[in-house]
Amino acid sequence: MSKTLTVTDRTRMSVEEIYQDLKARIGEYTPDFELRVKAELACEINQLKVQRNAVILGHNYMEPALFHSVPDFVGDSLDLSRKAARTDKDVIVFCGVKFMAETAKILNPTRTVLLPSLKAGCSLAASITAEDVRALKARFPGVPVVSYVNTYADVKAESDICCTSSNAAAVVQSLGSDTVIFLPDEYLARNVARETGKHIIVPTRLPNGTIHFDTTVDFQMIGWNGRCEVHEQFTVADIEMVRSQFPDVVILAHPECSPEVVAAADFSGSTNAMIRFVEQTKAPRYLLLTECAMGENVAAANPDKEMLRLCMVRCPHMNQITLEMTRDSLLYMQYEINVPEDIRVRAARAVERMIAIG
Ligand code: 13P
Ligand code: SF4
Repeated sequence: MSKTLTVTDRTRMSVEEIYQDLKARIGEYTPDFELRVKAELACEINQLKVQRNAVILGHNYMEPALFHSVPDFVGDSLDLSRKAARTDKDVIVFCGVKFMAETAKILNPTRTVLLPSLKAGCSLAASITAEDVRALKARFPGVPVVSYVNTYADVKAESDICCTSSNAAAVVQSLGSDTVIFLPDEYLARNVARETGKHIIVPTRLPNGTIHFDTTVDFQMIGWNGRCEVHEQFTVADIEMVRSQFPDVVILAHPECSPEVVAAADFSGSTNAMIRFVEQTKAPRYLLLTECAMGENVAAANPDKEMLRLCMVRCPHMNQITLEMTRDSLLYMQYEINVPEDIRVRAARAVERMIAIG
């Protein structure tokens, strides 16, 4: 879902108009005093946005009041990368996590890129270093490296191509290679292997800390041990429990969930793909196995559809990005994200190669 709003759409709105708009969308489950406070903050942000000639990009996991009041564009990682690459605004405020802001800087280096909180990391991005990738390339010479976009710039710089959850299988297939290194999300890699009919090996960490790959078995993909700390929490037992209560529920799982969970779900796709699925189908009820805030955002956008909630946990990193932090980001021009030029140039090759695939 990439809602194309022009900046003036919101910068012309008064506090009262923003409050009324939020009330209509999320008033059912948000206390009135909270809506009033957030409408004031949103109005301030929208005015600062004009003064700074800024664009605000909001990931689908942003909390509902922020999601519905300040971004010029909302969407998934791939979508927002494209928007960041194309913007002619002086400043990009990324309401998402650090690897996303870095990707914006990689693709549009002359803009000032701001991340409202430096605590907005990602367990996947933290799971691998550039040194790890260099060691893998030495261990499997000549094998192309696909890095999930949920990695930091120095890891992207060591990679041949990036992917997101919406194009991972297409990227792997585009390489036409017998063997591919796919980093760092073990579950996404296993899901791609299943979708493309490939065999995968994933390292085991020996007690002395060294990494061991069992290369005696058949393999075409080489994975890593990264996990999303949110999606790894969903289980097949959760799905069975919900289905036993609501046999007609349609269950959607993000591909960062385990392969068992993805297999037990009815549909798997990126955050945008899940949103589209709900918009374009007519099921008695839906359950999204992904970050909780997105469930609220989808429910607000589809008031005629019944959305079940299985809110396990909010992403602690996405959760850092609040309206207050976004206001301060524009007010004090913090926190600027920069990428050393030699790393940026090499990382840009991998990201642009992905974007060219679509
Ligand atoms: P999407 O690319 O599907 O938006 O996912 C990003 C992410 O961080 C999921 O946890
Ligand atoms: Fe990273 Fe998972 Fe949070 Fe997405 S939901 S930013 S993959 S920790």
